[in-house]
Amino acid sequence: MTWPKLRKFLLWALVLCLIPATRYYQIDVPLLRFLKGSRPVDPLSLHLSGEFVENNLGTAQEPDGSVTVRMIAQQYLFIPHCILVPAGVPVHLRITSADAVHALTFNGTDYAVKVLPGTISEAQLQFPRPGEYKMPCREFCGAGHYAMRSELKVVRRDQFPALRPQERGNCAAQ
Ligand code: CUA
Repeated sequence: MTWPKLRKFLLWALVLCLIPATRYYQIDVPLLRFLKGSRPVDPLSLHLSGEFVENNLGTAQEPDGSVTVRMIAQQYLFIPHCILVPAGVPVHLRITSADAVHALTFNGTDYAVKVLPGTISEAQLQFPRPGEYKMPCREFCGAGHYAMRSELKVVRRDQFPALRPQERGNCAAQ
């Protein structure tokens, strides 16, 4: 191979490596998905069937005392817009995206959860004291990114079971 040809080849090899490097989250390798154990969810039918239908979103009490929070990220909001959890108990978060890549964060904490369409992101959280946390999106996801935020309310542990299921799941109406 002559030098100009080699140079051209190397340049193309570099470009072809750079594309997946910047788009890694959009590459769907079924084997990797299988190994990671994340089950695919269809971003287009989230609202219609499965785990992320509207009445299944929000906070659910588990038999062991922990809670599970299910959310959807979409341009430009997190659903539900306000969630409520008890203080001092493990919070298991399950979230997926209906469109772009988002990042759910909790101001005042180090928690940050990257949310991708087609996969369920899971995180274990815990909030020791009652309080309110803003939950802004920290991944640029489009024109409305800077306004994309929801709220988390942490209530006393003994106060939580007394709430009606609708009040536990979604505090936006309170
Ligand atoms: Cu969603 Cu930025």
